[in-house]
Parts: sequence; C-alpha cells; structure tokens
Amino acid sequence: MERAAETGYNLPLCSAHIHNSHPTPQHCSMRVIILDHPQQVSQLAADIICSTVATKPNAVLGLATGSTPLETYRLLVERYEQGLVSFAQVTTFNLDEYVGLGPDDSQSYHQFMHSHLFSRADFCVDRCHIPAGLAPDLKAEGERYERAIEAAGGIDLQLLGLGSDGHIAFNEPGSSLASRTRVKALSAQTLQDNARFFGSEEQVPRLALTMGVGSILAARRAVLLAIGSHKAAAVRDLVEGPLTARVPASALQLHPQAMILLDQAAASQLENTEYYHRAEQAQRTRSPA
Ligand code: F6R
Repeated sequence: MERAAETGYNLPLCSAHIHNSHPTPQHCSMRVIILDHPQQVSQLAADIICSTVATKPNAVLGLATGSTPLETYRLLVERYEQGLVSFAQVTTFNLDEYVGLGPDDSQSYHQFMHSHLFSRADFCVDRCHIPAGLAPDLKAEGERYERAIEAAGGIDLQLLGLGSDGHIAFNEPGSSLASRTRVKALSAQTLQDNARFFGSEEQVPRLALTMGVGSILAARRAVLLAIGSHKAAAVRDLVEGPLTARVPASALQLHPQAMILLDQAAASQLENTEYYHRAEQAQRTRSPA
C-alpha cells in the first residue's frame, strides 16, 4: 500500500490493483474521501496518478478536461519538472471532444490538453488520444476510439470531473449506463455551465463525441474529483442517491475501484459524512504506512 505524498492517504496501488482487470468482489469499493481544502483534492489526484505511473510506467490514463483537473495537471507538470515522474511511456485517452471543433481550434479539448499538460511534460503525443470532433463519420470515430482503448489494453486509471447535472464525460442525464463512445447532445445545464469558456451560451457546441458510461465503468480504476458547492447536489446524488440514468455519475456505484475525492463544499449535501471519515480512518489504521 503506497501513501500519498501530500495528503497521507493510503493509495491502493499495489500492482495487483493496477494490472488485474477484474478485481474480486471482496476488493470492490467506492471510497469517498472528503478533504479540508480544494488544493488537497488536486494533490491527492496528482499523487494517485504519479503512483500509478511509478508502478506501471506504461500505464494507460483516461483524462478529463474542464476547470476541476487544472490544478492536478499543474502539479503533474511541476513534479515532472522536478524529475519526480516521467510520462514518456504513458498512453492517454481523453473522455470527450466537441463535435465540429478541430484540433487547432482554441476552444477544443485537443488544445486544452496540449496547452495544460501534453506540451509541458514528456508525453509522447502519438500515444495521446482524443476523439476527433471533425470526423466525417462520427459513429465510426466512436467505434474506432473504443477499439483503440481496447488495443492499448484498456484504461488503468480514469480521471473524471462531475457535471452539475450529474454527468460524467458528456453522458448527460438519460444516458444509457452501458453506453460506449458516441455522439451526445449537451444538456441545457451543461450549455449554461460551459458558456464561461465560450463567451456565451449560443457559442457552445451542441454536440460532443464522448466516451460512454460503459466505457468509463470498464476502466480498472476511476477517480472522480469534485470541488465547490455548485457540485454538492450532484455529489449527493452520485454517492447516496439511487443508481439511475438520470444521474449518469451514479453508475460509479457499480465500479469495482472508484474513489470520489471531494472538498468540504462539494461534500456539503452528503448525509453520511461521519461514516465516510470513519471508513477512511479505519483504512488508515488497518494499513499504516
Ligand atoms: C470534461 C468532461 C466533463 C467535466 C464536467 C465538469 O472532459 O468530461 O464531464 O468533467 O463537465 O467540468 P468542470 O470541471 O469544468 O466543472
């Protein structure tokens, strides 16, 4: 069991967790970790990614865009610059891309990943995959993307943000919980939330090519980050609500190895916080560093 550098949390990162595609039922868990400060959420996420790459240098990482992982990416770049981690052998698959935006478009997720992470560390760009939002046949592009993930051996660690409407990737409320990479229409809430990146709601693309809920559930480990009170209702529904396509993130309740990393504000509508703290405390007592 490794211990997170900054936060002191036990990370279930022995090689069996990373290499086993099917954890046995007794190893299945959804850990809810509530941290005091948003910065600790980013630090723990960076710790988990770095530990994964240290254990398996050619790990396959699933990556997210948006505001939430920005600080995590900054920390990864900092650790790379300090010589603490190398991504040279890593393969990455991003969750999604807007339909109609090419890789050179300043609003595309290609540009986002390039400017915040890929160009700032030693990633091999040939192994950094993002769905092609300009593909002439989007259905075929979705199928090609799924085959590429499979050919890479599947995703070892999937990083996720959370939409205020309960989406993961761009799987909006009502998405099939078995879905794979395909085109989805953005919800009214997401158009409103993402208007901040585009200047106005009208300019936000209406469609995205996105990994499905089923694609995300197939990742060997999933780590979802949520920061801020505007995520609190979605966090409550994800962790304590029923499993439902109305809240696609609730599908993580079925994931064999999911970690939900929250700051206090994002956790503020949870009912069982005392239990989550106690469960984490018990883990730490059972497996001291
Ligand atoms: C991004 C993605 C989305 C975001 C979510 C939260 O690749 O798939 O699900 O993670 O919309 O976005 P932020 O972090 O901007 O609040």
